[in-house]
Amino acid sequence: MLEELEVIKTDALTAIGAISDESGLEETRIGFLGKKGRLTAASAGMRDVPKELKKDVGQKLNEVRTAITSALEEKGASLTAARDAAAFSSIDATLPARPLPSGGLHPLSLVLDEAVSILRRMGFALAEGPEIETEWHCFDALNTPEDHPARNESDTFYFENGKLLRTHTSSVQIRTMEKEVPPVRIIAPGSAFRRDEIDATHLSAFNQLEGLYVDEKVTLADLKGTLEYFFRELFGSKTEVRFRPHFFPFTEPSFEVDLKLHATGKAAKWIEIAGCGIVDPAVFTEVTTKRGDAAYDPSGISGFAFGMGIDRLAMIMYGIPDLRLLIENDVRFLRQFA
Ligand code: DAH
Repeated sequence: MLEELEVIKTDALTAIGAISDESGLEETRIGFLGKKGRLTAASAGMRDVPKELKKDVGQKLNEVRTAITSALEEKGASLTAARDAAAFSSIDATLPARPLPSGGLHPLSLVLDEAVSILRRMGFALAEGPEIETEWHCFDALNTPEDHPARNESDTFYFENGKLLRTHTSSVQIRTMEKEVPPVRIIAPGSAFRRDEIDATHLSAFNQLEGLYVDEKVTLADLKGTLEYFFRELFGSKTEVRFRPHFFPFTEPSFEVDLKLHATGKAAKWIEIAGCGIVDPAVFTEVTTKRGDAAYDPSGISGFAFGMGIDRLAMIMYGIPDLRLLIENDVRFLRQFA
């Protein structure tokens, strides 16, 4: 019996040594260790082994089984390694990796990030309001009369329930004053919507940045200083800023702000960039009525507000000639900013 086991072991190790693929490996395993395998058959013979030899034979049996099992495992591992090596032989692992195409920020995001960071340094906090607004927040509270052209169906997108797509971010002034008490120093970037014909300088969905500062004794000098500083930080210290008297229902006095642009090869020209003014006391009165307290009593506080087009800031900053480029998602255009 001991000799028989030794023969089985030798045969098995020889057979395993000759295996060249995975199916050979399995066949050999079955041939020796399977239900009808040679070692299995031999171990059935234990029954007939005389008692005094059982221990030795049992030991031998175990030794042979262990030898065969580990030889099979080793062979399996070397087959796997050989297969991997073959698969990798056609690959040069030392080649540098292919660069992943990386995205970039949209020019609007770049300008907005810059504008927001300047204003935050000056103490303005970010505020938000809904794009679907009530007429009261968008117009009435901002002192805009019923017959103002901006309220016309042909200028504003109305919903059947009477709500509308906000035509400017000025509604966030009201949203903020409803829930916060002075001093208030906020900026509100966001989308606004108008029923405009789309062309190189008009989109029906565009982006604005609103600002509001309410405190005791806020003056026109504060407004001027703030906006001049802002535009010089954004476009360079030599930027010329002009305040031109204008009319807005929610500010009195009101101004339009122009920047002087020096495009290379062209005569310098003034371009309108923002609206602003000293908050009309009528706005504070509306807010006071709504709130039911004296936080915005116009006799104790004053404020300034401004609103500008972010799309227009991007046009100036990057010399973009047509607003539509900003929404067409043409990668050839966008890649320039990445
Ligand atoms: N809401 C105005 C617009 O969309 C811009 C504006 C003008 C905002 C004057 C203001 C302001 O806050 O004081 O044209």
